[in-house]
Amino acid sequence: MSTEPEIAEASLEPPDAPAPTEAAAPDDEEEHDWAAYYRYTLGREPRPLFSRGLEAVAAAGLEPGLAIDVGAGDGTETLRLLEAGWRVWSVDSAPASAEVLVPRVPETLRDRLEIHTVAADALDLPPFDLLYSAYVLSYLPPEAFNRLWAMARDRLRPGGFLVVNIFGDRHESAAEPDTTFLPRADVQALLEGLETIVFDEIEEEGGSFRGPIHWHLYDIVARRPG
Ligand SMILES: C[S@@+](CC[C@H](N)C(=O)[O-])C[C@H]1O[C@@H](n2cnc3c(N)ncnc32)[C@H](O)[C@@H]1O
Repeated sequence: MSTEPEIAEASLEPPDAPAPTEAAAPDDEEEHDWAAYYRYTLGREPRPLFSRGLEAVAAAGLEPGLAIDVGAGDGTETLRLLEAGWRVWSVDSAPASAEVLVPRVPETLRDRLEIHTVAADALDLPPFDLLYSAYVLSYLPPEAFNRLWAMARDRLRPGGFLVVNIFGDRHESAAEPDTTFLPRADVQALLEGLETIVFDEIEEEGGSFRGPIHWHLYDIVARRPG
């Protein structure tokens, strides 16, 4: 897998952001790159998509259960979920993610946190109530993406939520091999049978960890009917 760490909020782009190299399997080189990325993102607010997801969860009256944060990065959303009373699986293939997260989690919340340093491709999900994943899923090869998506659909409990973004086929990195950048119709097809609460297509020039790029992605909040 070839992964380009990016963020959507141009305002978070420091002028001296280090350029990451390509990151693939979780080897030492990737670990170095992601550690730099987390230093860059640490201190940020939760992603707007995450906040919209939790608003939808609250509006639906869903009580905190088990949440899965796939590609948790610096752990900002994992931490917020713990603070909101969720049990959380924080999943990331980079060991640096756990190293950054653990010291941020107060002792009183640690018994509700499970850290899984594993590639999403190899994940075996338990039944869960909320899956959050931002800027990650499209960097899985199609076979791994489809496997994970089918498993998430299968293990999502009735009334539970998927809060994810998926890159579109006009994104800057869409031509990279072994990735899953999808046209709108394919993204819509993934949501069949779910109640779609947010489906925002975003296409714009914007900042990223690597400098200005063309963004094309879908922000999604969807719920399995209860
Ligand atoms: C661009 S960052 C996004 C992190 C966080 N979600 C955020 O919004 O800042 C992508 C994250 O996905 C992780 N990642 C990349 N490929 C992965 C895979 N196959 N399985 C699990 N995590 C992966 C990276 O280690 C990194 O932490």
